[in-house]
Amino acid sequence: MKVSIIGGGGLVGSCAGFALQCGGVVREIALLDLNANLAAGQALDIMHGGPSVADQRISSGGYEHIPTSDIICITAGLRRKPDESRLDLINRNTDLFVGILDEVKKAGPKSSAIVLVVSNPVDILTFVAAKKLGLPATQVLGLGTQLDTIRFCSLIAEQLGTAPTQTHGLILGEHGDSMIPVWSSATVGSLSLDKYPGWNSMLAEKIFARTKQSGAECLSKKGGAGFAVGIAIRDVIHAIALDQQRILPVSTVQDGACYGIRDVAISVPTVVGRAGAVQRIEIELWPKELQGLKSSAAAIKPTLDAVLKRIGN
Ligand SMILES: NC(=O)c1ccc[n+]([C@@H]2O[C@H](COP(=O)([O-])OP(=O)(O)OC[C@H]3O[C@@H](n4cnc5c(N)ncnc54)[C@H](O)[C@@H]3O)[C@@H](O)[C@H]2O)c1
Repeated sequence: MKVSIIGGGGLVGSCAGFALQCGGVVREIALLDLNANLAAGQALDIMHGGPSVADQRISSGGYEHIPTSDIICITAGLRRKPDESRLDLINRNTDLFVGILDEVKKAGPKSSAIVLVVSNPVDILTFVAAKKLGLPATQVLGLGTQLDTIRFCSLIAEQLGTAPTQTHGLILGEHGDSMIPVWSSATVGSLSLDKYPGWNSMLAEKIFARTKQSGAECLSKKGGAGFAVGIAIRDVIHAIALDQQRILPVSTVQDGACYGIRDVAISVPTVVGRAGAVQRIEIELWPKELQGLKSSAAAIKPTLDAVLKRIGN
């Protein structure tokens, strides 16, 4: 299994490369970046650790890696300029992203390749990738709310002093302001979270508020999020590589079959395996969660429409 990471020289891409190395599951990791020297340096640094970790091939380069890649992960992106509006940044990122999709298409990806979109705004760009690449919709996934979900679980575990790997919660919807927490299914060690000693609604609100602000908190404290994003990317890539059929909150283009949501890419519970997003699960939610999810889809739509108009679709 070969994974190419476009944007692999940057913070997110290089952390994903390192997380995949530590996972030791994929055979080959290639870092592609406009800044070729940076990607080569990151690949070299990761490769140096190989003898103590796993027998993998770590390299860098350009789009010549695409035809042999099983998974193409796109993390390339731009940062906001001072005084730049959110929509201006979205427009610049969309143009860059469409340029990358054109290069990927030109290089000729495998018909079985899975594309994992990480660049922001991830739900919008996942929709654009699904539209432009000509791959089956099941093969185009966005990281969606997988990062938000693990952040959420980590913060619950920190507050309650519970084991992080036994603390389960889920965030669905937009990877952005309108994301929604699914309290109805949250558990610790298979015990219902809302009955857990010390749990109360004020704590719940505080944890969700911090989850939503986590990206901004990392940005202000260390210039951007990297390690946990890398781990979240690894969660999805391992689910594909190992055909795990794990249920993950990845973003895919919705067709109305799940919660009646259609014509946007958004995160719902999705079974992920070697073929990509193989199934979506509509599980009963509390009414306010369902309403929140539908509102989240509606919140994405105006930006998506503006982007599609801009790129001429
Ligand atoms: N979906 C998520 O959960 C999530 C989380 C964190 C960050 N992100 C997004 O990931 C993206 C990358 O963030 P970062 O912190 O790594 O930024 P970064 O600036 O550290 O890295 C971006 C990299 O992309 C490269 N790049 C730019 N244009 C390119 C092109 N045309 N082709 C190839 N490479 C190109 C740059 O050279 C740079 O190395 C951003 O869009 C960010 O918002 C998403």
